[in-house]
Amino acid sequence: MKRVCVLTSGGDAPGMNACIRAVVRSGLREGLEVFGAGRGFEGLVDDLIHPLSSDDVSNIIQRGGTILHAARCPRFLAAEGRARAASSLRSAAIDGLVVIGGDGSFRGADALCREHGIDVIGVPGTIDNDLWGSDRTIGFDTAVNTAIEAMDRIKDTASAHDRLFIVEVMGRDAGFIALEASVAVGAEAVLVPETPTDLEAISRTIRKRIDSGRTGNILVVAEGDESGNAVEIAALMKRDFDIESHVTILGHIQRGGPPTAADRALASKLGWAAIAALLEGAAPCMVGEMAGEVVRHPLADSWTMKKPLDDLLVLLSERLR
Ligand code: F6P
Repeated sequence: MKRVCVLTSGGDAPGMNACIRAVVRSGLREGLEVFGAGRGFEGLVDDLIHPLSSDDVSNIIQRGGTILHAARCPRFLAAEGRARAASSLRSAAIDGLVVIGGDGSFRGADALCREHGIDVIGVPGTIDNDLWGSDRTIGFDTAVNTAIEAMDRIKDTASAHDRLFIVEVMGRDAGFIALEASVAVGAEAVLVPETPTDLEAISRTIRKRIDSGRTGNILVVAEGDESGNAVEIAALMKRDFDIESHVTILGHIQRGGPPTAADRALASKLGWAAIAALLEGAAPCMVGEMAGEVVRHPLADSWTMKKPLDDLLVLLSERLR
């Protein structure tokens, strides 16, 4: 192993820069040459591969976004796109690829490995936390903290004005951000795609709270909940229970901003672990952290196995209301 390339793919996540830094500096320390590809797999398909030095990754550990840029790359879904990517890697004499991203990125990386024999290591980087094989993914902790900071502010005004707020957080297919944030702010209810939502029961509870004078209420909804988005839920509650509410959609503020200490530490560990896995011939695999230990699993486990929500948090989200 002499030359490795790193890229960030899919939605950006706070901590991706800290991970790039760890990959670059761990690789250089081991005597490797390290390269970066811009805009995720686009950078491989279009041959946008460039060398990275230790100076290139200086002063980025605290920055959100990704210095390599990120993209969802439809061309990489086709075999022809992957063949072009493999040929770019071969002509730059790259022996190993580190892909920082979510399950879509890992599926692409796995195909590149199977079809073209490229040694790939996946590093879980997504605010959604929906990858099996790592208790937490890079960016999740920051996104939850961003969400609760916003919700604390919303709570102040909810209680000052005796209002119900319905706050929508990110999570197309996953309720990890919604669940953790709702427990952390003491929300009245949380709606997540992993569990069936009984909107009628929730509305009845909120109605009772309002009628008994507990009027400052927060309901947290993951964008992928099957009962609808925050605007639709607000309309249903008004129509069926005459409940007035205000909707706040937190959106992409959850993806930006400086990573928390926990995300910087996780990203540094996993960037180092990716280089170690390449050097030890463990590719293809994903690296993660489970129960405090760095672990390696087949890439496909990350999407074929379902990471469950934390049962105790689910229970507490109901019991501590
Ligand atoms: O996967 C991360 C995520 O932020 C999801 O929570 C969200 O549904 C999606 O990306 C939004 O993607 P985009 O920024 O491409 O619209």
